[in-house]
Amino acid sequence: MLSKAIQEALNEQIKQEFFSANAYLAMTAYFEDTNFPGFAKWTRLQYEEEIAHGMRLFDFVHARGGRATVYAIDQPASEFASPLDVFEKALQQEQRVTERIDRLYELAQKEKDYATQIELQWFITEQIEEERIFNEVIQTLKLAGDNQAALLLLDRQLGGRQAQQSEQSA
Ligand code: FEO
Repeated sequence: MLSKAIQEALNEQIKQEFFSANAYLAMTAYFEDTNFPGFAKWTRLQYEEEIAHGMRLFDFVHARGGRATVYAIDQPASEFASPLDVFEKALQQEQRVTERIDRLYELAQKEKDYATQIELQWFITEQIEEERIFNEVIQTLKLAGDNQAALLLLDRQLGGRQAQQSEQSA
């Protein structure tokens, strides 16, 4: 059974995951509009992953006898200066999510909620991977600079991303 505090914190995290999803969808719209189909495909898959993250927590709350609450979510940013600007903002967003997951984990430790700690370990591992990937793309975009050929090559490369197996079944 979830404590009231843990349930509230998990519901807040569900909201955050759906906010992240919408933020990636807005980035997808920007990339579609600026003719970067590869980047658009990549952020669209990221959108789908965030939905899966939110639903994973939604299902966990109910599996533990709790009740999920669906909150209103804020409108995400939709205007960007460049692909680099998009990925830098996305990394900042992921870093905020990591901080929230860490705080949630601390709360689960304080409340001796072992099941929630185990569930959150999956998210902690996922955040390490997401921050790593975003940092990698940012470094490549910085190297590309204003070189259109390099940007198009990276667009094509990121367009080759496949959906994660675990996300498809999450
Ligand atoms: Fe659900 Fe990008 O973390």
